[in-house]
Amino acid sequence: MKILAFNGSPRAKDSHTDYILQPFLEGAREAGATTETLYLKDHRIKPCTGCNSCWLQTPGVCIIKDDMAGILEKILEANALIFATPLYNCTMTAHMKALLEREHPLACPQLLINEDGEMAHPPRYPDKMKKKWILISNAGLPEAKHFDLLLENIKRMTILSGGGGYATLVGTILKGMGGAFSKAPEDPGSLEWFFDACRKAGAELVKEGKITTETQEILDRPLFNYTNQEYVDKLNIFADNVLEMFAAAKNDS
Ligand SMILES: Cc1cc2nc3c(=O)[nH]c(=O)nc-3n(C[C@H](O)[C@H](O)[C@H](O)COP(=O)(O)O)c2cc1C
Repeated sequence: MKILAFNGSPRAKDSHTDYILQPFLEGAREAGATTETLYLKDHRIKPCTGCNSCWLQTPGVCIIKDDMAGILEKILEANALIFATPLYNCTMTAHMKALLEREHPLACPQLLINEDGEMAHPPRYPDKMKKKWILISNAGLPEAKHFDLLLENIKRMTILSGGGGYATLVGTILKGMGGAFSKAPEDPGSLEWFFDACRKAGAELVKEGKITTETQEILDRPLFNYTNQEYVDKLNIFADNVLEMFAAAKNDS
């Protein structure tokens, strides 16, 4: 299985997103997959201009000359796509949004009615769009509901132009309290159970074509069982300490 992963965090390799994504990919490689991670901030992907040339004048080809043409080729070759983004303003980062907008050439302007009775644009390359998708995200706030918009957005994209009704979302890793991952690579500490589940999920994608219900249930467990008040108190102490530290450093200089 060829897995192409997109990391949409501007913090790239030092991001909480990557601390979740990489163990997942490690598990996939151990199960026999080849993997590639594209750090979107390092690629020139301009937002779509809405000219619709890729649908009408030059079907399948975008007129913007940047890195996206090469990325579309990689997408077509991959069997599975991993969309990994921190939660920004209740959804994906601008880097990830630009990537998804620029998948427009993969769809055709016509419409069809799919098996669920929904209207969608037909995929331009139907035989290359039967892909597995995984969504990975982390957020500052702990409650699961903050991922609702992002999840719905990605699900709609499997039906519309991005996945053309042929892509299937086969698992998610959505974690609140992203700050808990800050020391993760050197010191997984009490989160080892979670990283083990990420590795297992990666292996399952390769072997079973999806994250199993059992592993999904583990991944969905909260990292810590704080009450809202406990979390607010902890976060505020941390924020005050950091503010004080920066203020002291400024006074000393
Ligand atoms: C511009 C911006 C917007 C954010 N919006 C949200 C949000 O809507 N909900 C939330 O829970 N966290 C939000 N966060 C917090 C990030 O999701 C959080 O810090 C995350 O751990 C960053 O992940 P990364 O290290 O992978 O970039 C936001 C952070 C920034 C910088």
